[in-house]
Amino acid sequence: MKIQISLLFAILFVHTKSQECDPALIQEIRNYRPVAELIIEEILHGASKGLCYEKLAEFVDSYQLRITGSQVLEDSIDYLLEQYQGERSVMDNTWKESVPNLPHWTRGEEEAFLIEPVHKSMSILAFGGSIATPLGEPLVAEAVVVTSFDELRSLDASQVSGKIVVYNQGYVSYSQSVNYRYKGASEAAKLGAIAALIESIGPFSINSPHTGVMTYAEGDTKIPAIAITQEDAEMLRRIYLTGERIVISVKSNSQTHQPITSHNLIADYNGTRYPDKVVVVSGHIDNWDVGQGAMDDAGGMMIGLIAVEVINSLGLRPKRTIRNILWTAEEQGLLGAEHYFNTQKNELDKFVFVMESDSGTFDPQGLTYTGDRRNGECIIKEILSLLGAINATRYQWTSGSVSTDITHFTDAGVPGAGLWDTDGQYFYFHHTEGDMMTVEDPNALDRAVALWAVASYIIADLTDDFPKPSPRTTN
Ligand SMILES: *[C@@H]1O[C@H](CO)[C@@H](O)[C@H](O)[C@H]1NC(C)=O
Ligand SMILES: *[C@@H]1O[C@H](CO)[C@@H](O)[C@H](O)[C@H]1NC(C)=O
Ligand SMILES: [Zn+2]
Repeated sequence: MKIQISLLFAILFVHTKSQECDPALIQEIRNYRPVAELIIEEILHGASKGLCYEKLAEFVDSYQLRITGSQVLEDSIDYLLEQYQGERSVMDNTWKESVPNLPHWTRGEEEAFLIEPVHKSMSILAFGGSIATPLGEPLVAEAVVVTSFDELRSLDASQVSGKIVVYNQGYVSYSQSVNYRYKGASEAAKLGAIAALIESIGPFSINSPHTGVMTYAEGDTKIPAIAITQEDAEMLRRIYLTGERIVISVKSNSQTHQPITSHNLIADYNGTRYPDKVVVVSGHIDNWDVGQGAMDDAGGMMIGLIAVEVINSLGLRPKRTIRNILWTAEEQGLLGAEHYFNTQKNELDKFVFVMESDSGTFDPQGLTYTGDRRNGECIIKEILSLLGAINATRYQWTSGSVSTDITHFTDAGVPGAGLWDTDGQYFYFHHTEGDMMTVEDPNALDRAVALWAVASYIIADLTDDFPKPSPRTTN
């Protein structure tokens, strides 16, 4: 998942009057320039060059389908636990935390064909949480094709009942279009539909279906919810508008099992002066059961892990603790993060700052930030001004979420930052078979590590705690 950058822009320009920065604080950050240069040099030209790509490839090639409930996910968590606790680890303290009661859904065999008026096979992926077709057998029915919920609701139940609803809603933005994935099945079921085939949520397609979590509303009739490709959705709509009868056969025998327990993995690089104060640097370890989850979100997780290794390799140790957290069950609705937040919410004073990368690790541009608009904003802008050498100087403020898993913390007033990268291609690959190492670039990953290392080190090392906003403003 990720936060839409275009939305952030919209929020950014609803801007409060900028305020004076504390000159002493500005000078303090500027004094970190030599350290920032050292970190960047080490990653761009030193022994750490290419390390992130190498470790990431090793990880995702070994543990590809890390869906919640799978043994592969638990094995991948144990693999990183061993890395963190091994002889060459730089971390002081690493542990797993159980996250109980998580959904366990598995995909079965699935296939779909257009049968009338012409024959064509269709690439599909059931959405996570979807029920199977009856008995896991092919369901054959006539289809109606709509472009919006409004168009669906304008139909009479007699036009929809007993049929398959196909959505060709197009792509506006992830945050807007994803509602068709979440609610498409329930909305269609209200009119008596027996399955929903939903255009994948993505701006570009090479016949690529995108999966992702879906939900049934309380009390609604459950029908299968299945992703089709943009190409097939458009093709079906064109045929539908000719008035010809469309018949589709669709089969999916996915299953929902008993809830399971998974684990967040937490690793501390102890601070020297305030070890109980924590800067969280995080990403999520789970993905879907397609592709390798290289960009969503193994890359985001790995840059945090490597950033601490680089800080250590330079003999640097900040005053506060840098805490890597690898969240589990993000794809099921931020469930690992929610659980962790609930265990920590009475001790939020310990959490000085929270960071996550879950929007891809393409060419990094800078940081999105939420928190105090006065000295907090000044600190982030000054840190970014130390990153000219990697072209990662861009700044964006939002009153909303900067990254998925840290949302609970930032909503509770802990300041936070997300990695802002070149946005263009993330949703091409998101939740598809295409999210593989091939989308990752070693140099872009190195720059992301450098940005992450410089920002987390400085924030963890400041004389005073990073300022927290006084009770959350409404701007
Ligand atoms: C790191 O800090 C934790 C918590 O304060 C402490 O239990 C642990 O012994 C420390 N480890 C090292 C190597 O200093
Ligand atoms: C930063 O951008 C400039 C201008 O586009 C480019 O020449 C330079 O190689 C970039 N630096 C890095 C580290 O990518
Ligand atoms: Zn993600």
